[in-house]
Amino acid sequence: MTSSDSTQKPPAPAKAPAKDPWDLPDVSGLVVGVLGGTGDQGRGLAYRFAKAGQKVVIGSRAADRARQAAAEIGLGVEGADNAETARRSDVVIIAVPWEGHAKTLEALREDLAGKLVVDCVNPLGFDKQGAYALRVEEGSAAQQAAALLPDSRVTAAFHHLSAVLLQDESVAEIDTDVMVLGDSRADTDVVQALAARIPGMRGVFAGRLRNAHQVEALVANLISTNRRYKAHAALRVTDV
Ligand SMILES: NC(=O)c1ccc[n+]([C@@H]2O[C@H](COP(=O)([O-])OP(=O)(O)OC[C@H]3O[C@@H](n4cnc5c(N)ncnc54)[C@H](OP(=O)(O)O)[C@@H]3O)[C@@H](O)[C@H]2O)c1
Repeated sequence: MTSSDSTQKPPAPAKAPAKDPWDLPDVSGLVVGVLGGTGDQGRGLAYRFAKAGQKVVIGSRAADRARQAAAEIGLGVEGADNAETARRSDVVIIAVPWEGHAKTLEALREDLAGKLVVDCVNPLGFDKQGAYALRVEEGSAAQQAAALLPDSRVTAAFHHLSAVLLQDESVAEIDTDVMVLGDSRADTDVVQALAARIPGMRGVFAGRLRNAHQVEALVANLISTNRRYKAHAALRVTDV
C-alpha cells in the first residue's frame, strides 16, 4: 500500500433521494376531535371532515351542547365534553375563542397528552377600524399551546378558512390552501394530509411553530378584504 493510498477517502455513501413533500400519510383512519366544535369554525371543520369520511367527535364545555351539534351535522359525528373528546381523538383541533384558549388548554393538559393538537386560533382584536392582531406573550396562540401542553405534539393550521363556506352544504369544494406549521415533519405531514381530505384544499407546509404569529395575524388582513369585497377570501400558495 502506498502512502497516497492510505490518505484516500472512502467513497461518500449514496444520498437517500429527497422525500417527495406531497407523499403524505394515509390519515383516513384517524379520529378527529374538535374542541369548541359547537361554534362556527369547529362545526364547519367537523362537517367537512365527516363528509370526507373521517370519524369526528365534537367537543364542548357542555356535553349536551356537543351532542346536539353532532346530531345536527349527522354523518356519524359524535359529541362529548372537551375532555372526553380529547381522550377519544388522535388529532385534536382547538377551535375555541382566543379569550378561552389558555384556560381551556391548561385544564386539558392530561387529556391531550400524546395527542396531535392542531391550533387554528387567531388572537385578534376588533375596534372601529376593523380587525387587528393582538400581541401574545408566547409569540402566537400556537406557541402558547405548545408551552401549555408539553406532552402534546402541537401544530397550527386552518386559520384562514371561512366558517361560512365550511358550513355551507351547497359548497362542494373549498378552494384554498391551508398553511400548516409545526416543528415535527411527521406531524405537519399528518395535518397536511388531513387538509387534503377536504375537496379543493391542499395542506402546504409553512414553517416551524415560531412562524405561526404572522399566519394567525394575517386573518386580520383577510377580514378587511372580506369587508371591502363582501367575500369569503382565502389563500393559494403558488408554484408549489
Ligand atoms: N369563524 C371563523 O371563520 C374562523 C376561521 C378560522 C379560525 N377561527 C378561529 O377558530 C376559533 C373559533 O372561532 P368561532 O368563530 O367558531 O368561535 P365561537 O363560535 O365564538 O366559539 C366556538 C366555541 O367555543 C366555545 N367557547 C366560547 N367561549 C369559550 C371560552 N371562554 N372558553 C372555552 N370555550 C369557549 C363555545 O362552545 P361551548 O359553549 O359549547 O363550549 C363556542 O361554541 C377562534 O379562535 C377563531 O380565531 C375562526
